[in-house]
Amino acid sequence: MSQVALPERTFDRIRTLMYDSIGLDFDPSKRPLITSRLSARVQKLGLEDFDEYLALVTNPHDGGEFQMMVDLLTTNETYFFREPKHFDLLEQELNQTRPQQLKLWSAASSFGDEAYSLAMLLADLQMMGKIGSEWSILGTDISDRVLRSAMEAVYPEERLRFVKPERLKRYCLKGHGSSEGLVAMQPKLTSRVSFGQLNLCQPMDGVGQFDVIFLRNVLIYFDAQTKSEVVSRVVDHLKPGGLFFIGTAEGRVPCDTPLTPLIPGAFRKGSRRPE
Ligand SMILES: C[S@@+](CC[C@H](N)C(=O)[O-])C[C@H]1O[C@@H](n2cnc3c(N)ncnc32)[C@H](O)[C@@H]1O
Repeated sequence: MSQVALPERTFDRIRTLMYDSIGLDFDPSKRPLITSRLSARVQKLGLEDFDEYLALVTNPHDGGEFQMMVDLLTTNETYFFREPKHFDLLEQELNQTRPQQLKLWSAASSFGDEAYSLAMLLADLQMMGKIGSEWSILGTDISDRVLRSAMEAVYPEERLRFVKPERLKRYCLKGHGSSEGLVAMQPKLTSRVSFGQLNLCQPMDGVGQFDVIFLRNVLIYFDAQTKSEVVSRVVDHLKPGGLFFIGTAEGRVPCDTPLTPLIPGAFRKGSRRPE
């Protein structure tokens, strides 16, 4: 199917809209990417051009079209146990502190692979008597599409390629027949994990305080100022001594709160372990 032309002036308006609403920073080199991600939608809606599309998504009565645009423009790549050293560090920490209660937050959860990887780790630690039974995980994201999928907790097998076979047996159900190639999380995990929509670029009162926060592989889409604001806002919800993780490719973390670096992409809030 041919693409709809995206004039520079209209691209700039889309760019500003995305930056102001969800912090995504699309530089001019991303014009072909935006064109290819949105063209089919413009055509499906039977619209003349991108200007008509913009008029629709900026209308308060857009029928959910703005959210659809967010779904199309966010990059949701994820898989189970991505950057495994972070999970190893968390396991070592919990082996030492042996907490009775734990609240974890996967703050750009995408389809939930990260949240369910954490759930497998915590369920194992609970089984070994290393942590108490009161633990839960919250996954949040801006994209409706990924959240709907996360709530279903069904994954293509290949996204679990780094899950140990014994964990697959303990926590997953393999699909058969029409579900061949899919894997469902078992209720012993789904009962611990919840998902909700949250925009990292807006105030987030009421989200609560967490012992551990994963904010991985989302900061790369923000400019320096937004990155710094998002990190500060998220770290406000981390308890003193708690662990904070970002993607190892995300560079320096500009943050007002003192963070102690532990390994690449992993930090402690302050310098002391929680009591
Ligand atoms: C590449 S995924 C990262 C998934 C997972 N954390 C990982 O490391 O595998 C980035 C996610 O950030 C989400 N995102 C982008 N901007 C956001 C915002 N302003 N607020 C909340 N989530 C956002 C996207 O929808 C996407 O699902």
